[in-house]
Amino acid sequence: MGTTLIRGGTVVSATGRQRIDVLIDGERIAALVEPGSAALGADLAGAVDTVIDATGKYVIPGGVDGHTHMEMPFGGTTAADTFETGTRAAAHGGTTTIVDFAIQTPGQRVQDTLAEWHEKAAGECAIDYGFHQILGDVDAEALKAMDELVTEGVTSFKMFMAYPGVYYSTDGQILRAMQQAAGNGGLVMMHAENGIAIDELVTQHLARGETSPYHHGVSRPWQLEEEATHRAIMLADVTGAPLYVVHVSAKQALAQIAEARGRGRNVFGETCPQYLYLSLEEQLGAPGFEGAKWVCSTPLRSRAEGHQDELWRYLRTGDVTTVATDHCPFCFRGQKEMGLGDFSKIPNGIGGVEHRMDLMYQGVVSGRISLERWVEVCCTTPARMFGMYPRKGVISPGADADVVVYDPAGHTSIGLEKTHHMAMDHSAWEGFEIDGAVDTVLSRGKVVVAGGEYRGRKGDGRFVKRDLSQNLI
Ligand code: URP
Ligand code: ZN
Ligand code: ZN
Repeated sequence: MGTTLIRGGTVVSATGRQRIDVLIDGERIAALVEPGSAALGADLAGAVDTVIDATGKYVIPGGVDGHTHMEMPFGGTTAADTFETGTRAAAHGGTTTIVDFAIQTPGQRVQDTLAEWHEKAAGECAIDYGFHQILGDVDAEALKAMDELVTEGVTSFKMFMAYPGVYYSTDGQILRAMQQAAGNGGLVMMHAENGIAIDELVTQHLARGETSPYHHGVSRPWQLEEEATHRAIMLADVTGAPLYVVHVSAKQALAQIAEARGRGRNVFGETCPQYLYLSLEEQLGAPGFEGAKWVCSTPLRSRAEGHQDELWRYLRTGDVTTVATDHCPFCFRGQKEMGLGDFSKIPNGIGGVEHRMDLMYQGVVSGRISLERWVEVCCTTPARMFGMYPRKGVISPGADADVVVYDPAGHTSIGLEKTHHMAMDHSAWEGFEIDGAVDTVLSRGKVVVAGGEYRGRKGDGRFVKRDLSQNLI
């Protein structure tokens, strides 16, 4: 692998930007070098193995996507991206670390399910990866397993207030798991929707013959996201556990999170590009069955109600802490089509692991967020939140050399026949023509993508044993 110099670019961090060169030795960042500095020898470029010219470009930490679902069994089928295809697509889009989810369902030992997910991912990934653990059955054994997992680098646990009969946990189970996390330092992640009430509404819509993808959205109203978010916050209050609310889409749910943060609580909100750009009216309401492509939970929200603008505002002011993709791709043919005539049978999920960095860069282009905030929510804070900082999420000496050279003068055309490396037969972002482009991606010092070409190999990516969250202290 040798030494690499990234020369001529502007290094952007969560706190500032600087014209400085980046020296990489093997898998790590060795130094940041002032242009023309004699400190490391007069002609550094002549002394290294590889020089990458980043003139006019941004040099940012590799993206950290804290919420993906490769090969997830869900809704009677399995998410279409394998760890191999999904992480390769992520690399194309400038993401160099994902945190995916091992899943325990009732009757399974938590440790066995984690071992199963290790087996799925080992030797397959293009980039580094970690795991959260989904708890689908919180009993005494599962609570004990939480303590064990924390020591094995799986330091966060997702539970569901939605999906009764599948992954759903009762308030009592959530309370017990939060108590355990308060004791062992783990982070509780919550899918906050009132699944019991939603299931009633789903039954009522279907009984009225309202079977289209649009009705997936209206059967999951914002009130039931707000209510569940509030309840999760109150349970966290009682137990003293920190809380990370995943895929927040309703502005009212974010107001709950903002209120809790205002009281000094360790409550964090994650949103996803789909909730910032797409809507109930335009995507879920697309003609015929087309809207199935955008069926996910929490659902896309009404633009007329102003959720998207409010989410951008919360993102700018800090109450949205991270942006992940919730990448959970299903093909339209044969998978989404399972819900023809009954929206409740459409597998829930949108694929987007490839496009997060580009889509969020549009926030910079439009002036909604700063360049630094882009790096913060997409790279640095997810690394801190999930116990990977300063190995990941920052360009500084000693950090893993996960680096993206990003071209602000570039252009990205998203679409199935254009920029698309995910194992899906459609793109949720078809037709998006956007400013900026990923130029070069390094994963632990190795160039894995250059000029749109994949140069890595499956198995390049390693499991990241995570520490406890650093964002909470
Ligand atoms: O629709 C979604 N979000 N699918 C993935 C599973 C989940 O709830 O995160
Ligand atoms: Zn969820
Ligand atoms: Zn998810």
